[in-house]
Amino acid sequence: MEVTKRHVVALFIVVLAIVSVNGDLGDDSELKVKYKHGKKYCDKGWECKGWSIYCCNLTITDYFQTYQFENLFSKRNVPMVAHAAGFWDYRSFIIAASLFEPLGFGTTGNRTTQMKEIAAFLGHVGAKTSCGYGVATGGPLAWGLCYNHEMSPSQSYCDDFYKLTYPCAPGADYYGRGAIPIYWNYNYGAIGEGIKVDLLNHPEYIEQNATLAFQAAIYRWMTPVKKSQPSAHDVFVGNWKPTKNDTLAKRVPGFGTTMNILYGDSVCGQGDIDPMNTIISHYLYYLDLLGVGREQAGPNEVLSCAEQIPFNPSYKSSSSST
Ligand SMILES: *[C@@H]1O[C@H](CO)[C@@H](O)[C@H](O)[C@H]1NC(C)=O
Ligand SMILES: *[C@@H]1O[C@H](CO)[C@@H](O)[C@H](O)[C@H]1NC(C)=O
Ligand SMILES: *[C@@H]1O[C@H](CO)[C@@H](O)[C@H](O)[C@H]1NC(C)=O
Ligand SMILES: *[C@@H]1O[C@H](CO)[C@@H](O)[C@H](O)[C@H]1NC(C)=O
Repeated sequence: MEVTKRHVVALFIVVLAIVSVNGDLGDDSELKVKYKHGKKYCDKGWECKGWSIYCCNLTITDYFQTYQFENLFSKRNVPMVAHAAGFWDYRSFIIAASLFEPLGFGTTGNRTTQMKEIAAFLGHVGAKTSCGYGVATGGPLAWGLCYNHEMSPSQSYCDDFYKLTYPCAPGADYYGRGAIPIYWNYNYGAIGEGIKVDLLNHPEYIEQNATLAFQAAIYRWMTPVKKSQPSAHDVFVGNWKPTKNDTLAKRVPGFGTTMNILYGDSVCGQGDIDPMNTIISHYLYYLDLLGVGREQAGPNEVLSCAEQIPFNPSYKSSSSST
């Protein structure tokens, strides 16, 4: 009896939470604060939950709102042109981001650092999902989130080398899907484990659910490919101190190294190539649109990875470019 009642209450709370998310994402819920060993920890309700030092700072909805998302991805719903029209929205991004805000996603450092991280992450997303080529109206940078999956896959991206750990499911194809597209069975398998969704057997979930697509991309941003390596988040916000090897490999903290982590030698260490410059251009464009300004991005040495040696050779790099 007691148990049933509690279930009902829990269900009611879940419903309320969903209603409040639907209503106004910018609404900041109850802030709770506690101190432990002289450190301040906070819990901000749905957007930043679970006693974290990061939740004491601004949360993403405090500085990144619907109109800004619309500005950044202004062409994503153009009928007949945008391939994923109607799929991507602000709310999906924020709900996915809320799972990582207690870990520092968009909540590390001061407001400028926070906005730069969102611009950097979305810069990758915009570049990897763009259908804007030279002649597109609004310019080639206005077409981020045009796709949610690879259009004409040339293969099913099933690598038998991983048949014991991440066996391909019968009939499943592991072509590029998502906000930072995932390719190959082993990447679907590993990311699925990370976010606790069976992506190895259901890679199609990523192109059916925008929240999940963003969640997988933010997970990639927040998680090192190998335990001994930094995440893209770490190198971007300054959590990472390069070793002597890193310095010799020209890997420095900043945006350039995020490309090294996410794409390896398909983008980095190849000189001043287009695939790299396209990603940088999206980042700078978003910094401008957010009012941070591209001058905050720092010099070319930190923006570029043209001369960097990849952390991981191409075979292991976790997502390849299209
Ligand atoms: C919170 O914000 C302040 C300044 O706005 C910053 O100095 C501090 O590092 C941030 N906290 C964390 C955990 O990043
Ligand atoms: C924000 O933090 C960055 C990195 O720590 C620092 O360089 C910058 O001066 C800070 N900006 C403001 C306005 O405090
Ligand atoms: C989409 O994915 C999110 C995050 O995993 C999940 O909470 C939600 O229920 C999914 N939506 C649908 C319609 O399946
Ligand atoms: C540094 O690089 C050398 C040569 O590639 C390698 O043998 C060594 O393990 C690396 N050290 C670290 C700490 O990664």
